[in-house]
Amino acid sequence: MTTHPTLADLARRVSADRNHPAFGHDALITCDRLVRVFTADGVEVQALQGLDLLVREGELMALVGASGSGKSTLMNILAGLDTPTAGAARVAGRDLLTMTAKDRLAYRREVVGFVWQQTARNLLPYLTSAQNVALPMRLRGGRGRAARRASAERALELLDLLEVADCRDRRPHEMSGGQQQRVAIAVALANEPSVLLADEPTGELDSHTAEQIFAAFRTANERLGTTIVIVTHDQAVASEVRRTVAIRDGRTSTEVLRRSEVDEATGHETLVAREYAMLDRAGRLQLPAEYTQALGMRDRVALELEPDHIAVRPDDSDHG
Ligand SMILES: Nc1ncnc2c1ncn2[C@@H]1O[C@H](COP(=O)(O)OP(=O)(O)O)[C@@H](O)[C@H]1O
Ligand SMILES: [Mg+2]
Repeated sequence: MTTHPTLADLARRVSADRNHPAFGHDALITCDRLVRVFTADGVEVQALQGLDLLVREGELMALVGASGSGKSTLMNILAGLDTPTAGAARVAGRDLLTMTAKDRLAYRREVVGFVWQQTARNLLPYLTSAQNVALPMRLRGGRGRAARRASAERALELLDLLEVADCRDRRPHEMSGGQQQRVAIAVALANEPSVLLADEPTGELDSHTAEQIFAAFRTANERLGTTIVIVTHDQAVASEVRRTVAIRDGRTSTEVLRRSEVDEATGHETLVAREYAMLDRAGRLQLPAEYTQALGMRDRVALELEPDHIAVRPDDSDHG
């Protein structure tokens, strides 16, 4: 006879897990209860309200969420441009809360690369594409002629990889928005960062061009192994990555994972999506509004522990 664990057994297991020190120990990006409060004119805005996020090395993932939900705040923190008010954030072994100013500068130059929505923010207007891409390598070090030649060579390789080699001698205003963003990706990849961050990189582009930009990110991820986090409003982009995390009110709320399934009869491959809710370490869970509204759930729900799942039912008490 098999016996199901008792609630006491489960509780013991849970408390053992919670004492485990290794939240995100094997992740490249770890955000643990991240908080960012802005104060403007004496008014406090809680842009991040205890956000948890783990990103594994080699992932290509998307962050989505309504305007004002805290996406850019998170990206600025991960980029080393802003510091969180509380919580923990680690990227590639760096603690983003305790870094010195000097560490922060090295972090921005060597550990992360970023691509912003405004094409004009990504490139220096008076430099050609090849010069823009070589610049971060030259700033990092190497003044000699050999170093200069190596930077120039790698710049051309990157432009070639992103299919904008023909733009090598053009300045930003001589290129389309899509070409500029691909050059911007090459600039961001110049110093072989562990993480590439992109905040709405296709926001100013039409859907066909946006697709090409997304293909460029995919190339970088597959060919160079770079871990990539893309904030996007574009549902087409979001549905092409294996993992999409939704941010709501400064917290990660739900997550969609897609895996490819091959139809045995036709050999056709399709991506099958499944939605998950995030369970934080205190056990808090956010149910999607579509689900709770469909069953008229509010204020209080009934929970039942079953052998392999937890049932959540509408409040059926008389006090409801
Ligand atoms: N520098 C700032 N000063 C004050 N409030 C800010 C600042 N940056 C962002 N916020 C506020 O924080 C919230 C989240 O903003 P943001 O991260 O830009 O959202 P998103 O990128 O998802 O649209 C918003 O309410 C925004 O007004
Ligand atoms: Mg934003």
